[in-house]
Amino acid sequence: MKKLKIGVLFGGLSAEHEVSIKSAISIIKNLNTDKYVIIPIYVNTKGEWNYIDLTLLTYNIDFLSFIDHITQCIEQIKTQKNGSNGYIKPINLGEINQLVDVLFPIIHGKTGEDGILQGFFELIDIPYISSNILSSSVTMDKEITKKILKENGTLIAPYVSIKEYQYNNQKKRNEFIQILKNNFSLPIFIKPANCGSSIGIEKLSTFDNLLSSVENAFKYDNKVLVEQGIIGKEIEISVLENIDDYDQPIVSYPGELIPNDEFYSYKAKYIMKDGAKLQIPAVLDDSITNAIREKAGEIFKTLECNCLARVDFFLENKTNKLFFNEINTLPGFTEISLYPKLLDHYGIKYKDLLDKLINLSLKKHSLKTIKNKNSIDILSSIKLD
Ligand SMILES: Nc1ncnc2c1ncn2[C@@H]1O[C@H](COP(=O)(O)OP(=O)(O)OP(=O)(O)O)[C@@H](O)[C@H]1O
Ligand SMILES: [Mg+2]
Repeated sequence: MKKLKIGVLFGGLSAEHEVSIKSAISIIKNLNTDKYVIIPIYVNTKGEWNYIDLTLLTYNIDFLSFIDHITQCIEQIKTQKNGSNGYIKPINLGEINQLVDVLFPIIHGKTGEDGILQGFFELIDIPYISSNILSSSVTMDKEITKKILKENGTLIAPYVSIKEYQYNNQKKRNEFIQILKNNFSLPIFIKPANCGSSIGIEKLSTFDNLLSSVENAFKYDNKVLVEQGIIGKEIEISVLENIDDYDQPIVSYPGELIPNDEFYSYKAKYIMKDGAKLQIPAVLDDSITNAIREKAGEIFKTLECNCLARVDFFLENKTNKLFFNEINTLPGFTEISLYPKLLDHYGIKYKDLLDKLINLSLKKHSLKTIKNKNSIDILSSIKLD
């Protein structure tokens, strides 16, 4: 049988560039080479796309050397100005669907997870592993996501949002400060509406540095949210689309993330050696576990996600109330990332997860092709005078 060519697209222009490389290496290591031809495609920080032509590795190399070779190629593309060696080849974006059959864009955050790449994939009509344009871009904006879920009865921490042009208006800025001081108790969290990796996020335990924190968040986005801090457990859970029944997504058991910093900050995520402990599964009463699993599946469907998503909550200590925090449609995917680890605990091994995601992307694409063909048939049946 002909092997499917899987393009693993990684790197990219977001702050999560290095995490993306790590996720991609894990995926490449675990794709079944009996079924797939692997085509690593690296997007460097200038936005240039190159692929690593592994078909040139004709001699019998062992697996570790294979991974080592890929890592070396990435380093080479990073350090070279324009160049390519025998294995590294620039990609003509218009010809990408001659090179690969399915794309796995493991690019987190802006440009990867927000609908931009998904739009390109739709345009060139290639199967891809991720939510579609609409749910990718909706879920990238923390406020729009909250608005949709609130309508659906999901509990959200109280928040106020402000756009940069409003903040620059003295009257509006004063109103915003008053609303916060009158209605919010401390701590509060200041965050850019569209970002990730805790970049630009600050936790405040007094209102003294409110303005400098808001201004810092505006460095990364033109909309900022101020949220009521929830004191409780940070719970994350993995959802996988069910290829046979969209209404019954596969939902792992919840995990708990216990940060070793004041909150799960950028420092705790990427700088501290032991920035956080992962508790899999979270130690919770069965009734709470069940409620979280049900809510996560419902959120996945409400936001019309596809393939995969990690849903993050806070479970408030005092009340045991479950607050939705955010959803990631292309979560970290290294072997030690929470998303695959939770599914592994549930019984879906990393390698099998990759097979399932590839099948989901093929199914999504074939359904879309049928709908597009139907529309074209209708159009061509219309006779214009
Ligand atoms: N309302 C809140 N109450 C308590 N803690 C919060 C709140 N909002 C954010 N935090 C803390 O800040 C961290 C980062 O916030 P959030 O998850 O919203 O941002 P992010 O940068 O998008 O993260 P990711 O990289 O997961 O996409 C959370 O993991 C949590 O530790
Ligand atoms: Mg988060």
